[in-house]
Amino acid sequence: MAGSVLGTAFSLLLLASIIQGQNVFYKEKIEAVVGQDVRLPCIMEKRTGLHIVSIEWSKNNDENTKLAVYSPKFGVYLFRTNVTMQIVDNSTGSYLNLPGVTEWDSGIYYCDLTTFPLGSIRRETELKIKDLMCDVSGTVEVSAGENVTIQCNVFSDAQYRWTKNKEMVSESESLELLWVTDADTGVYILTVNTGNRRLRKEFNVTVLTGNHNHKDRSCDSVTTV
Ligand SMILES: *[C@@H]1O[C@H](CO)[C@@H](O)[C@H](O)[C@H]1NC(C)=O
Ligand SMILES: *[C@@H]1O[C@H](CO)[C@@H](O)[C@H](O)[C@H]1NC(C)=O
Ligand SMILES: *[C@@H]1O[C@H](CO)[C@@H](O)[C@H](O)[C@H]1NC(C)=O
Ligand SMILES: *[C@@H]1O[C@H](CO)[C@@H](O)[C@H](O)[C@H]1NC(C)=O
Repeated sequence: MAGSVLGTAFSLLLLASIIQGQNVFYKEKIEAVVGQDVRLPCIMEKRTGLHIVSIEWSKNNDENTKLAVYSPKFGVYLFRTNVTMQIVDNSTGSYLNLPGVTEWDSGIYYCDLTTFPLGSIRRETELKIKDLMCDVSGTVEVSAGENVTIQCNVFSDAQYRWTKNKEMVSESESLELLWVTDADTGVYILTVNTGNRRLRKEFNVTVLTGNHNHKDRSCDSVTTV
C-alpha cells in the first residue's frame, strides 16, 4: 500500500520534472513576411498517464484575445474566423494556423495546455511579421554622374534579385548604380524570395541629363536622391 503510494508519488515527481523540462515542442520566436501562412506549434511529448484536458490559444494585444480552444470532449472552437487549429495525433497538442498574415498579426501568442494530472502549462511564441521596406519608394530621380543606392531591409536567409528589362543587375539587398548615365534610366524590379514567399517591388529610376533637367524637375515633385 505504502509502496504503491510512494510509487505514484515518484512517478508524479518524475512527470513534474519532465513538465518543467522541455517536453513541449513550441517556437520561442517566429519570423514571417506579410502574406505568408504561419503555423505555431505547441505539442506535448506523449507520456503514459498524462492527458490533455484543454488547449487554448490566445494573443496579447491590448487585452488578451482568445483565438481558439480545444477539448477532447467538445472539439475545437474558433473565436476568430481567420485562424484554424490543427490537433495533433492523440491530442497531445496543436498547431495554430494563421493564413495570409498581416503586420497586425505580430505579437505574443500564448498556448495554454491544461493537463491531467499536472495542471496548466503555458508557452509563449513571439511572432514577428515583416514587410519589405526600402529607403526610397516608387520613383527615383537623379542627375547624370551621381550615384543611386536603394537599400531594403534584411530578411535573414532571403534571396535578393534586382532586374531591369528581365536582366539581372544585382543579387544583394541593395541596388547600387554608380556614376549613372541615361542608359541607367528604367524600371528596376526587386524580388525577395524568403523560401516560402516571394515579395516584389518596383522602382522607376530616371536619370536627368542635359538642359531639360530643370524642366523635368519643375514639373515633377518627386523625391530626388
Ligand atoms: C494513439 O493512441 C492509440 C491508443 O493509445 C495508439 O494505439 C495509437 O498508435 C496512437 N497513435 C499515434 C499516432 O500515436
Ligand atoms: C484576422 O482578422 C482580424 C480582424 O478581425 C485582422 O485584423 C487580422 O489581420 C486577421 N488575421 C489574419 C491572419 O488574417
Ligand atoms: C559615387 O560612388 C563612388 C564609389 O563609391 C565614389 O567614389 C563617388 O564619390 C560617388 N559619387 C557621388 C556623387 O557621391
Ligand atoms: C517613370 O517615371 C517617369 C517620370 O519620372 C515617367 O515618365 C514614366 O512613365 C515612369 N515609368 C514607369 C514604368 O512607371
